[in-house]
Amino acid sequence: MKDIETRKQRAIRTTLKLMAAHRDTGNFESLPWPRNIIDRETKRIKLDLRNGDVDVDYLERVVRRSFRWNPQSVPMIPDDKLQLLRLLRTNASMSTLENHIRNGSELESQIIETANSQLFKGHSPVSSIRNAMVRLGMESLKFLIYQIVISKTLYRSKQFEGLVRKLQFKAIASAHFAREIASWINYQSDEAYLAALVHDIGEPYILQLMDVLQLDMEEELAIGILKHAHSETGATILKRINVPLQIINAAESHHDFAGQGLQTTSVLCAAADQICFHLNLLDEKYWNISVSRLPFRLLGISNEDAEIIIERCQDILDGLLE
Ligand SMILES: [Fe+2]
Repeated sequence: MKDIETRKQRAIRTTLKLMAAHRDTGNFESLPWPRNIIDRETKRIKLDLRNGDVDVDYLERVVRRSFRWNPQSVPMIPDDKLQLLRLLRTNASMSTLENHIRNGSELESQIIETANSQLFKGHSPVSSIRNAMVRLGMESLKFLIYQIVISKTLYRSKQFEGLVRKLQFKAIASAHFAREIASWINYQSDEAYLAALVHDIGEPYILQLMDVLQLDMEEELAIGILKHAHSETGATILKRINVPLQIINAAESHHDFAGQGLQTTSVLCAAADQICFHLNLLDEKYWNISVSRLPFRLLGISNEDAEIIIERCQDILDGLLE
């Protein structure tokens, strides 16, 4: 009898957890794990946390495992949004994209809002999604969709709300900085922008996973896990979104760019991170990023030019903060 009750209680607990996760992701299929695995892993980690004895390696393995069950999905990104992101890498026409966007009303209103913003504003305001898309143009539209979908789905965490907002701002700032650096070395600015925008995408994913598993932990410990696991996690997400290989490489090796046959996008992201560090968008205490001009040197940028770039990025940052 006792056994049956325990099993029943466990089933209720798991169901509640699944419902909470379902609410968070908006998609039942995108749950990270089958219910028995969620239960087992959560129990073990919670016990470790209670004992003050957290095995960071084990938590890293948990993060890695979260991708295992459905190789086509990115847990946390609902299927329709994932499909839209994949579509961006095809020659899909504007009307095909329009059909997808019409399904997501929030996305639709944000695109119209951006088309009417200071940056794209025309003679008269646009009110239809088609007119907004035409005004933005295909390239800007694609970046905007990446930015909105990823922000709305991955950059969400109840427990680490403040940290997630900082990471989100840092991602957007990095993208602008990378575009500035790219202009100095005649590198494709759109690729630099997208690479920097998503190179740390593993970080918010991991924080959200901690939410779904209802793990209550100190921010410092969470950052410790992010530091170790975000590169691989980010690359896994980007492979499933089907972005260009250079962008996946940037996510995978932006902290270890020297040994990998030097991928320009990885070094660009490392240089953008250095600028974030200079402009206090990264906290030295937690992130342990060493001050270095190496990424700039590897890109063929002199110390003097690096100083000018940093100054320009300060102006960009001031603009973003306005
Ligand atoms: Fe990183």
